[in-house]
Order: sequence, then C-alpha cells, then structure tokens
Amino acid sequence: MNRKIAVVGSNMMDLVTYIDRMPAKGETVEAPDFAIGFGGKGANQAVAAARLGSQVAMVTCVGDDVFGPQVRANLDANGIDTTHVRTVAGTASGVAPIFVEPDGENAILIVKGANGALAPSDVDAAAGTLRAASAILLQLEVELETVYHTVAFGAREGITTILNPAPAHPDLDIARLAGLDWFCPNESELALLTGLPTDSDAAVIAAARSLIERGIGNVVVTLGGRGARRITADCVTEIAPVAVSPVDTTGAGDAFIGSFAHFLGTGLEANDALGRAACYAALSITRRGTQTSYATPQELDTFLSAQARA
Ligand code: RIB
Repeated sequence: MNRKIAVVGSNMMDLVTYIDRMPAKGETVEAPDFAIGFGGKGANQAVAAARLGSQVAMVTCVGDDVFGPQVRANLDANGIDTTHVRTVAGTASGVAPIFVEPDGENAILIVKGANGALAPSDVDAAAGTLRAASAILLQLEVELETVYHTVAFGAREGITTILNPAPAHPDLDIARLAGLDWFCPNESELALLTGLPTDSDAAVIAAARSLIERGIGNVVVTLGGRGARRITADCVTEIAPVAVSPVDTTGAGDAFIGSFAHFLGTGLEANDALGRAACYAALSITRRGTQTSYATPQELDTFLSAQARA
C-alpha cells in the first residue's frame, strides 16, 4: 500500500456566481449569490485525495499577486506538500469565473495565469517527490509539453499516471501520451480528442479503443447520469451511476480522479476504486463549491451506508 500521491498541474481562484439563468449578449441580469473558493482541476484533485487521507504533494505555479499566498496557504491547510509550488514573478494567479445554474449545472471560464508557466523543468525539480508517489495526477490547465514530459517520466519510472483531459484541448497529441495508465475523459472530451462519435455505448467503446491502440492502458469515460465505463483492450466494465439531487456539479470530475487515486493507493482493486470514486464524486455534487464540497472519510462512510439502505 502506498498512500503517496503527486499532482502536477493547476490551481485557480474560483469566482463562483450562482445564477437563475445566463444573461444573453448585451443583457444585465441580477444573480442571487456569489462566493470565492479555491479551485483548479489539479488543486481539486490534490485536496480530494488529501482529505481522504493520502499524503499528497503538488507541483504547480502561483502568481505574485494577492491570490498566490492564499492558494499556497490553502494547500498547506489541507496538509499538501507545497515544496514544489513555484511563485512566478510579474504574473497573476489562475482564476476561474464559474456560473452555477439552479439545477447544479455549471459553465466555467479559466484564465491560466501562472499555471501557464509550469514547465518540464518544474517536473524535473520535483523528480524525487514524484518517484516516491504511487500515482501522478494530471489535467490540461497547464502547457501540453509539461503534461507529455510528466507522462514520459511516469512511464520511465514505473509510476502510475492518471490524466483528466480537461479542458479538452484539440491539439492534444495522443501519440505523446503513450505509456499513460489512465485516461479519464467525459463523452464530449472523448469525441473532441479522438474525432470520433460518442453518441452510443458502442461508439464510446470504439473511440476509447482507438486511444488504447495508441498506447494508453485504460480509458475511463464518465457519462454523467449514466455512470462511467472502464475500457481496456479486451474488457469493458460498467461503473454504476449514483443517484443524488445535484446542488452544484463543479469539481465533481476532480473529486472522482483524486479519490480514485486515493482508493487505488489504499490497495483497492481498480474497478472497486472506480466505484468508490463515483460515490465520492456524487456526494460532492450535493454541496456547493469545489474543494468545499469534498467529503471526509467519515462523511463518505455515512453516505455509503445511506446508499446501501436506500
Ligand atoms: O473542475 C472544476 C474546476 O475547473 C474549477 O475549480 C475551476 O477552477 C476549473 O479549473
């Protein structure tokens, strides 16, 4: 069992507006509520894994603005190793204006800011920390070269790598992800990244297999209310959906990946780890915010017991 996890990637300040509806172009609409929170797909993954009890280290960049020290302090407060958090002079921290509708669905803009400065050299500087990890988690809110470099490092060193290809980047070069262990898109990301349809189960499987043929070990496609599918070269496993009443879906994908890495590290078999991660992500959407919505192990146990009784 190795409970050490490393995250190479992004952090953001989330500027969350809870809206009744999106304004049309040129229109001004009053919204009922606003909150500032800590987010970024990378930091969210890190916090989810740490909250569940993993030892987490984060390799990321912050700006030298008012948000940089706050982001660093938040990672510290969550028990995350910030040795490899670099402050970039003359650069703003990443921010994400987010709009959450009454049904819990969200729309997100990201401004990468300092995240854009995270470089392969930052990964090399953290090599000792990364080598000690059972898994390295990645997303696409940093430069693609940094992602390719980290995947190659993981493959060379025999460390499990898990990539959430969000936000989907049309220039992502699948050939340079050869050796990646887990690729976890949603349906629309899978369609964009493969150029293949994903409008049926058979199409999703075919699109996922096109990635496996190019050197990726496992593809986990999240399908919203229909759960998820794990697709390998010779097997398709259904991860059952978990029914909840959504309040705010922001960060659910990050909760899924961060908790999946945690459960894998505790020694759970991969399909069981995915099932448990689906429950963790579902619980997160019953609460507002991203990192604020991530449960402790005790809260997860209570949720799992209630699910078992239902
Ligand atoms: O996945 C949710 C996250 O996407 C938010 O926290 C926001 O910062 C963006 O990175």
